Amino acid sequence: MKETNEIMRGFFEPPIREYIDKIPAGKQLRSRLICAIAKEGDKRFLLSAIVETIHLASLLHDDIIDDAKTRRGAPSVFVTDGAKKAIMIGDIFYSVAFSKLAAFDSLTAKIISEAVAKLSYGEFLDVELSKSFNTDRQKYENMIYLKTSALIEASCEAAAILAGKDRDRYARLGAALGIAFQIIDDILDIVGDEATLGKPALNDLSEGKVTLPLIDFYHSAGENDRSKLLSLFGKKISGDDARWLKTALEQSGAIDKSRQYAKKLLDEAKNLAAGDDELSAVADALVSRIK
Ligand code: FPP
Ligand code: MG
Repeated sequence: MKETNEIMRGFFEPPIREYIDKIPAGKQLRSRLICAIAKEGDKRFLLSAIVETIHLASLLHDDIIDDAKTRRGAPSVFVTDGAKKAIMIGDIFYSVAFSKLAAFDSLTAKIISEAVAKLSYGEFLDVELSKSFNTDRQKYENMIYLKTSALIEASCEAAAILAGKDRDRYARLGAALGIAFQIIDDILDIVGDEATLGKPALNDLSEGKVTLPLIDFYHSAGENDRSKLLSLFGKKISGDDARWLKTALEQSGAIDKSRQYAKKLLDEAKNLAAGDDELSAVADALVSRIK
């Protein structure tokens, strides 16, 4: 995504620009989807740059809210530069990216701005849900739709508008992919190791985030396992506790259930991409993370 990165850098002057260079690039799923849907023209790169910059702003703020010391394997900006700076850089990223939406039609601007309202509310709900052990699957799914899926849904819808394609179809594709993406992240938090994750394993439960495999395990567990699970909520999990939790989640079938659900959503997305090999490949890249 060379073009997208160049546009993102061009949004800012030094010293703000340095933060675009400083934060390791992620998977850029949103840009890859936009460019796979809108296959021609320079405006797709501008749309990608706007969305990636908004995403980056949200991560700067999210790391402060989650007190996450690392991001993509590097120290978080609030760790290296302090929380005040990370908040301000996030504000600058977010507001400059927003101002660039003026180059698009009002429907596209509405779709992207409503998605940002959703992700902000999703983050609020995430924090609220993390205050106690949440066992409600529907509440969890609604929160991850808002926090993660809404911006991916909006990216696909806006790209479809740009390409003169069926926007409803691509919005549905993005929404399914977004939920699948978050559930895969949830699974990786349990089965992954610190080196690949770029953050500690089993971090979600330590942060109070009761993700889908944990909710399912809670509901299927017997009394002893359930109380052990509850006792780990909000604590740093290592050694025997970490081994017990990983094994229990695998053996109860909770991981597999989440994996199957993510795959079902991915299949849905791939069906909506019918016949578009490039777009299906972006979806497949997601599946390969949990194989
Ligand atoms: C990561 O979730 C966080 C998000 C996807 C959204 C965060 C949104 C805000 C902080 C609202 C502010 C928005 C702007 C535009 C300034 P996670 O913590 O589950 O994932 P992680 O493990 O990658 O941190
Ligand atoms: Mg976080």
